[in-house]
Amino acid sequence: IPAGFFTAFDRQNSLLYNADDYEERKLSDLQGCFVAEEIRHQMALQENKTVYRVYKKTAPLVAGELLQAVTVLFPGTVNGEFFMTRGHYHIHPKCAEIFFCLGGRGLLLLQKGNETKWVEMKPDVIAYIPAGWGHRTVNTSLAGPLVFIAFWPAVAGQNYQRRLKEPFGKRVFQADRSYVIGDGD
Ligand code: 6PG
Repeated sequence: IPAGFFTAFDRQNSLLYNADDYEERKLSDLQGCFVAEEIRHQMALQENKTVYRVYKKTAPLVAGELLQAVTVLFPGTVNGEFFMTRGHYHIHPKCAEIFFCLGGRGLLLLQKGNETKWVEMKPDVIAYIPAGWGHRTVNTSLAGPLVFIAFWPAVAGQNYQRRLKEPFGKRVFQADRSYVIGDGD
C-alpha cells in the first residue's frame, strides 16, 4: 500500500507511523498560556521541558481533503496548573474537528464567545469540536502523557491570535490526585 494512503498509531513509542510533519512545543513556546507567567518564564530559562509533540500527516490544503495529527501532551504543571496546548480557533468558520483519545487522562476545553464547555478525555472517548469553537487540551494526570488523534478539514487553518481576545474561560489545576477547574482570564 503506498505510504500516502495510511498511517498507524505506534503505541509503544507514542507516535504516528508514516507521519510527514512534526512539531514540538516547549515551555518557551507557551508564553501567556499559564496564570503563573513569570514562573513559566523561569522554567523555560532553566530546564525548558517539552510540553507536547504533534505528528502530522499532510494533505493538499484544498476543499475536500482532511488532515490528521497525533498529539502527545506530556505530564507536568506550571505552579500547579496542568500542562496544556496553546489552543486555537479555525480560520475557516465552518470547519469542525474530531479528537479520538488514545491514552492518558485529560480535558478538552471548548470556547465560543463567553461560553466554555469541556469534555473528559480518556481512552476511546471521541470528542466533537463543532465549527467555530476554540479548542485546547489539558493533561490532568501526572502519571503519563495524554495522547489523542485529531481529524479536521484541510482548509480549516489555525488562528492562534483569537484566543487573546476570546480566551479560554477555564483553567485546570492539580488537586490531591485529581484536578479542579478554575476560572480563566
Ligand atoms: C490541529 C489539532 C491538534 C493541535 C495540537 C496542538 O488542528 O492540528 O487541533 O493537532 O494542533 O493538539 O495544539 P495547538 O495547535 O493549539 O498548539
